[in-house]
Amino acid sequence: MSAPASPPVRDAREPGAVEAAARALRAGELVGLPTETVYGLAADATNAQAVAKVYEAKARPSFNPLIIHVRDIAAARREGVFSPRAQALAEAFWPGPLTLVVARRPDSQIAALATAGLDTIALRAPAHWAAQAVLAAAERPLAAPSANRSGRLSPTAAAHVARDLGDKAALVLDAGTSACGVESSVVGLIDEDGPALLLRPGAIAREDIEAVVGPLAAPTKGDRARAPGALAAHYAPRRARLRLNADRAQPHEAYLGFGPTLWATLNLSPAGDLREAAANLFGHLRALDEAGFDAVAIAPIPAAGLGEAIAERLARAASVKVES
Ligand code: TXA
Ligand code: MG
Repeated sequence: MSAPASPPVRDAREPGAVEAAARALRAGELVGLPTETVYGLAADATNAQAVAKVYEAKARPSFNPLIIHVRDIAAARREGVFSPRAQALAEAFWPGPLTLVVARRPDSQIAALATAGLDTIALRAPAHWAAQAVLAAAERPLAAPSANRSGRLSPTAAAHVARDLGDKAALVLDAGTSACGVESSVVGLIDEDGPALLLRPGAIAREDIEAVVGPLAAPTKGDRARAPGALAAHYAPRRARLRLNADRAQPHEAYLGFGPTLWATLNLSPAGDLREAAANLFGHLRALDEAGFDAVAIAPIPAAGLGEAIAERLARAASVKVES
């Protein structure tokens, strides 16, 4: 028997369907997940290779940070730093269509790739019963962007997911049409003293959010929590200067390899696998930075598949001036 071309779409209420989804997620597979906003393409957020599959499936040209779905406030507080205002918003709207961007805890278990190497993290406790059931059964946070290919419309039905990302998910859970139909509102609460930022208008009205935390501001250039496209500096290592497309290191440089090489200080993927390279990218850059290297030479990365997103992030990181 040959494998089916598109994933099984299973009624989420069918006995065993939620458990099958949780099993697939724990095995590092992707699952089409109903939420009250839109359908998500979920992966185990603690598994960098699984997260890499999400970027690959969506064909994102860059690694935009993903929303991390958790069961409740307690689970969220294990990954992010909650100020009193963040706590108040979570208590007012969770579970529900609100995403909070807060400082990432240093001991967070979330894969660096899921937060695109940032020191902030987007967290949301979804209200949908099926999303909650899968989170409970999987017993781990789930990274889940909207389950559409990059640049396409967000899916509000299981059939949309099957059509758009059919071959990428192990399973699509069907729980009917999404109630909200638009994505969650994204609010940034990074700086204790700064205003709360409306990073993405969404399923909760601005007025309702402002009733809890006061006036929402639009992000400005200096804000740490901004739309991902504008985040260039935050993907950059603190210290090390990067040299791209290097076949080997100069004496003063560390070498970040790709593919079989004897030269590498660290290797994104000794086997030359782009998914593995994506999974390792931010963690390896950080490790070289923290090891104190001033300069890092980086091997050429093939342009195919996830290579485009890897190259895009490296180019951003390399073009940023070294801070003293
Ligand atoms: O309703 C939703 O939020 C859906 C469902 C599946 O939960 N998910 C969703 O995820 O829309 P996604 O990955 O398509 O949208 C992620 C958005 C980014 O556009 C960005 O605005 C924000 O979340 N975001 C995530 N992490 C961030 C961070 N560290 N800093 C600033 N913004 C962040
Ligand atoms: Mg989206």
